[in-house]
Amino acid sequence: MSDLLQQIEKMVADAIAELLTVNSAEALEQFRIKWLGTHGQMKSAMKLLGQAPKEQKPALGQQLNQAKEQITAEFERKQGAISADLTQAHDYVDVTEPGLRPRLGNRHILMKVVDELTELFGRMGFSVAAGPEVEDEFHNFIALNIPESHPARDPLDNFYLEKWSDPSLVGGMAATSAGPQPLRLLRTQTSTVQIRVMEQQKPPIRVVIPGRVYRPDTHDATHLSMFHQLEALAVDKDLTMVDLKSAIMQFIHAYFGPETRARFRPSFFPFTEPSAEVDVWFEDRQRWIELGGCGMVHPNVFKACGIDPEQYTGWAFGFGIERIAMRKYGIDDIRHFVENDVRFLSQF
Ligand code: DAH
Repeated sequence: MSDLLQQIEKMVADAIAELLTVNSAEALEQFRIKWLGTHGQMKSAMKLLGQAPKEQKPALGQQLNQAKEQITAEFERKQGAISADLTQAHDYVDVTEPGLRPRLGNRHILMKVVDELTELFGRMGFSVAAGPEVEDEFHNFIALNIPESHPARDPLDNFYLEKWSDPSLVGGMAATSAGPQPLRLLRTQTSTVQIRVMEQQKPPIRVVIPGRVYRPDTHDATHLSMFHQLEALAVDKDLTMVDLKSAIMQFIHAYFGPETRARFRPSFFPFTEPSAEVDVWFEDRQRWIELGGCGMVHPNVFKACGIDPEQYTGWAFGFGIERIAMRKYGIDDIRHFVENDVRFLSQF
């Protein structure tokens, strides 16, 4: 009896020691077959029981059952540990599952419109120019023939970066440690870049200038204090108002469609003479939308840039890009462009 008992105890100890070395699902299955399977060690031990003397059978039988339960319990514990390990270590991919579509960003509608416009004018022979958003009074006003007394220079209508009423200002210059500097402001119009282009390039000139401009306006459905303009400038010999009108009509028909109605209204800008404002008909709303101003470049502007007005003529326009985008894509409120609402932005 004690022989058999010892054998059983040893069997349990061996099984548990072996189980400690098991660390894969396959090894565990081998263990199960060896110890707990139909032809395994436990079954053989049960057979030995048949040969034991009758009076010892109940005690040995009980001992064997306990041994089996103990090995089974240890086996199951190991099984749990291995399967938990499997799900953690091998984060597998079920390729049959429908995928999670990542949310892709897209280019802002206004920048798409800028691309469309520069591409269109590119085909009409215009290159793209740019200039600084922080400007001085020379480029924003003086060279554009806007005299010191002009209401457009009122501090209430501009974002000046220096104090306009500063007593240290002499003749529109700010006294700084580096000497007198022109007063700076956020540009109110992209017309400033006309000057910068003409300072560097001599005619013939054909440029478009998309860019941001700033005005202290109260925000509503058609106004923002920061918006975008598309400026155009053509300088050559013998350019006339006919060239201006036909270029603008060509643009309007190419961009909004050949049936689009447009009109020119006489207007005034210090830097053009004659000047006009351009409206396009918005069929959906049954009303005219103003795109912006245009005109023939004023001789004083040429002079400020060292171009001889006796030799050259030019035309220019400055249109609101938000206005153009609203007309093209049926957007009813200019504030949508800056609210960062993905429900709006993802539509384009
Ligand atoms: N700069 C003008 C504005 O912001 C628009 C404008 C008018 C631009 C006439 C031009 C022009 O180039 O010729 O209101």
